[in-house]
Amino acid sequence: MYPEVAAAIILDLVEKRRTSLRSVALEYFRRHKDIEYLKPVVRVLTLNVLRNYILLDYIAEIAGLDPRIYRDIKRWLLRILVYEVTHQINKLKKSRVSKIANILKLKNQFINTLKNIDVEGVRRKLIKLNRIDIAYSIPYWMILLFKNARIPYLEKFLETLLHDPNLWIRVSTHKISRIELVKLLKRMGYKVREDSHFFDCIEVIDKRRSLLAKTIYYHKGYYTIQDKSSILIGHVAYPSNKIVLDTTAGAGLKITHMVQLGALRVIAQDIDFKRLLDAHIHAKRLGLANRIFLINTDSTKKIFNCPDIVLIDPPCTGLGRLSIQPELKLHLSRRYLNTVRRLQYQLLYNVIKNVRRGTRIIYSTCTVTVEENEDLVKMFEKEGYIEVIRHKPFIGFKSFIDERIQRLYPHLHKTQGFAVTVMERT
Ligand SMILES: C[S@@+](CC[C@H](N)C(=O)[O-])C[C@H]1O[C@@H](n2cnc3c(N)ncnc32)[C@H](O)[C@@H]1O
Repeated sequence: MYPEVAAAIILDLVEKRRTSLRSVALEYFRRHKDIEYLKPVVRVLTLNVLRNYILLDYIAEIAGLDPRIYRDIKRWLLRILVYEVTHQINKLKKSRVSKIANILKLKNQFINTLKNIDVEGVRRKLIKLNRIDIAYSIPYWMILLFKNARIPYLEKFLETLLHDPNLWIRVSTHKISRIELVKLLKRMGYKVREDSHFFDCIEVIDKRRSLLAKTIYYHKGYYTIQDKSSILIGHVAYPSNKIVLDTTAGAGLKITHMVQLGALRVIAQDIDFKRLLDAHIHAKRLGLANRIFLINTDSTKKIFNCPDIVLIDPPCTGLGRLSIQPELKLHLSRRYLNTVRRLQYQLLYNVIKNVRRGTRIIYSTCTVTVEENEDLVKMFEKEGYIEVIRHKPFIGFKSFIDERIQRLYPHLHKTQGFAVTVMERT
């Protein structure tokens, strides 16, 4: 089996099933244990082809082939071949190229033309022609959302999405000091750097994400893999001696941080039982489960009474995570944007309706659209239910709509795209 063929099968499944690349790849290699050794190559191929798929189709056309003559697995195989030939021809074995070309019944002339195409040159030309959607392989309707959000240095933002994101971990400071953990990780060969904003945050520079969750120190609960933007929420909440409610607790990254930072009690609600189970396993690994109460419920209908701080970290389009989840470009639609907006509205409305005056509400998303952030919270503010308040630490950019809302971007803050609003119930 060639890695290209495995990658094409996986990408076809990702597109058809509309599920994450990670879960499809996991399942694929669970079923094909004999080719597990291909995992790293397939990972790189699938991620990079998804990051560049629109440009790869365009390059195939320049080389004289209409990619639409292929469907399903073969369409992906063509994109993979175009990617490999134009990006790393020196490392590719000629026999492998001709084997794949045979499967696709491609002529030698096509491969030879591809070899002479300067991808960066094509990209630059497209940018000059204002076709940044093709240049950076982002569907045009998403580009419009980014423009609407007035993302600073948009092209740099789009360029960053073509590469692996920065990798951050949160130190379990109740178990080990940051200095000590840095020493241990360095001894294992990791390149790490202490973050200058947060005392419990470390940047992992060599980005071996999958291996980081397998070390002995991970199993001992010395750290959690968590983006810096998400770590920010714990510090914004300042939960010491407070009762915290997380209405959408998910796998429990933020709730465990709250306990670590001294929260009296954390109530973790989620509609998905399996996610709560993950949260419990996570909290146990960190030795923090005893102050966390899990409630499997729909937070648009019920919320636990009388918290001091409420977190709402709702399902969103995830457009701030495109570099790590480029398959979102295949799965998302305007319709889905409207669906999550409705859910975000319902979650926030139910909290506003039920908490007492003065309760602090922290609303955060890993997306960069105005529709899922400012539009929503400003509407509730205009109706007099809440007041957006200033918060600290403020390590990102001020929103152009309301300077009290904080936005973070991969190209400027080395985090996923993220937005945070802190409000008080009036
Ligand atoms: C972005 S994730 C939350 C991540 C989490 N806060 C963390 O830090 O790990 C969104 C979560 O909202 C949950 N969710 C979706 N609809 C919900 C609802 N109506 N009530 C409660 N939880 C819901 C999903 O199951 C998912 O786990």
